[in-house]
Amino acid sequence: MLNKKLPKPKLSSRMKIFIEKAVPNYPFWDFCCDHGYIGIGALQSLKFSEVHFVDQVPHIMVRLEKLIYQSPALNPDYNFSLHTKAGEDICQEVTGSLLIAGVGGTTIKNILESLCNRDLLRADRLLLSPHLDEHIMNAFLASEKMARKYEVLEKISIQEGRRIRPLYIVDKIIR
Ligand SMILES: C[S@@+](CC[C@H](N)C(=O)[O-])C[C@H]1O[C@@H](n2cnc3c(N)ncnc32)[C@H](O)[C@@H]1O
Repeated sequence: MLNKKLPKPKLSSRMKIFIEKAVPNYPFWDFCCDHGYIGIGALQSLKFSEVHFVDQVPHIMVRLEKLIYQSPALNPDYNFSLHTKAGEDICQEVTGSLLIAGVGGTTIKNILESLCNRDLLRADRLLLSPHLDEHIMNAFLASEKMARKYEVLEKISIQEGRRIRPLYIVDKIIR
């Protein structure tokens, strides 16, 4: 039975842009997923080989799992994984597209740095949308270890209500 307390996932135009900009046919990672609507939208788009949801708060992930399993609009055959842990503690290779949105640049830096230091950062595209501390994320992207692997392809501005949110599209450098 659908739990009436769980809201229907609703994609804002900001969230739709994240899905549009991700690389098709490969995994989609929704780091710091919270409500999970972006990852759910990614699942429903049928654009990706698998979708990974990552958030460090256990009750958020319990609720998200219920939402996925209880929503009649979601096909149980969808290929997805839930990771209840800090993004910094992910211990498998991250491939395809990696989204981190709605957190500060320090958190984005910490997650990327941890993956990079353990050689797990293998994504073709990073979609990064810091809501504060943008300069900390930018300094990290410009650091030697990141700049030799990734380059900023595009920075776009997304209107969300009265706020403007940045989105950095950062691609792996192909040599
Ligand atoms: C404001 S929500 C962002 C939701 C969504 N990404 C969006 O843009 O709409 C921030 C979420 O980040 C999660 N979070 C913060 N730091 C994290 C970390 N280091 N690893 C995993 N999740 C984290 C919080 O638990 C919270 O659910």
